[in-house]
Amino acid sequence: MSGEEPIDPGSDPRASVSQRVFVVGAGIMGSGIAAQCALAGYPVTLEDVSEEFARRGLANATRALEHAAERATIGPGEKEAALARIDIAIGLRRADSAEIVIEAAPENLALKRAVFRELEGAARPTALLASNTSSLPITEIGQELADPGRLIGVHFFNPVLQMPLVELIPGHTTRPEVVERARAFSESLGKTVVSSRDTPGFVTTRALAVELNEAAWMLYEGVATKEDIDTAYRLGFHHPMGPFQLADLVGIDTALAILEVLWEGFRDPRYRACPIWRTMVAAKKLGRKSGEGFYVYPPREPSA
Ligand SMILES: NC(=O)c1ccc[n+]([C@@H]2O[C@H](COP(=O)([O-])OP(=O)(O)OC[C@H]3O[C@@H](n4cnc5c(N)ncnc54)[C@H](O)[C@@H]3O)[C@@H](O)[C@H]2O)c1
Repeated sequence: MSGEEPIDPGSDPRASVSQRVFVVGAGIMGSGIAAQCALAGYPVTLEDVSEEFARRGLANATRALEHAAERATIGPGEKEAALARIDIAIGLRRADSAEIVIEAAPENLALKRAVFRELEGAARPTALLASNTSSLPITEIGQELADPGRLIGVHFFNPVLQMPLVELIPGHTTRPEVVERARAFSESLGKTVVSSRDTPGFVTTRALAVELNEAAWMLYEGVATKEDIDTAYRLGFHHPMGPFQLADLVGIDTALAILEVLWEGFRDPRYRACPIWRTMVAAKKLGRKSGEGFYVYPPREPSA
């Protein structure tokens, strides 16, 4: 092969940090994914539907990197170098500059389908299309795409900088080279990769949903207080946080959406959502991100 021959990045399973990553949705996960990719050396565009949301996402990415610097899990200067690699965008047009596109919009099938339909036109034909969905089947997200073979689930965990796992979910028609690219990319971020078949909730979310929902039912039935249930899980099972603390971190709306996907997918009473979730979403008690969920969180200092 002559050195002049053009390289098709879409066919190269190696992850190259010169490739731009475009993150759709600058919420809890999008901001963490952007910080993680930038830390690994990728140029990143963090996108949302409004400038306010995109800026809030960048502030959250900044906070995550500051936290990592304070805990010395990253070296001197790494925070500044990572932040210099992140820019923000409104709308999906700028996806045309990326080779890796990661969608982290809310857990809603119609919304994700619409995002990927638009991305299929906006992104380069060679770009990897990944969804960070925590429960929706990838095949269903991609069912309206002209080429669903380019789509894969790349499921990060919260908080992204601290959690070492990525769950890969190939859809029914995802091409093997797309799986290999997604694996190489995830490993280039320092993550350990597990794979799951494309069923609702995959491995991790299916396990988590039952745990959170069971805790909610116990609270609903008056078995114990939320504080005692959280303490029981932490000290009895060595969990780093209790189920209500975790639900507040995940987002109450996301927890409810996940239970609904599992219920829709399996129609199994194991996934019957405790009414607490719906009431809290209606009351806009969405967890840390709204300032109150099961617990109340003081407003955070704006990042410098
Ligand atoms: N929260 C968690 O712990 C967690 C963990 C793993 C995976 N996930 C998954 O990650 C995804 C995002 O979850 P999150 O917790 O970050 O949600 P979030 O509510 O914190 O953020 C979602 C962001 O997407 C934006 N958005 C809405 N519509 C959009 C559109 N059309 N285009 C671009 N952006 C849009 C919103 O403005 C918001 O900023 C979901 O699929 C969720 O299931 C969440």
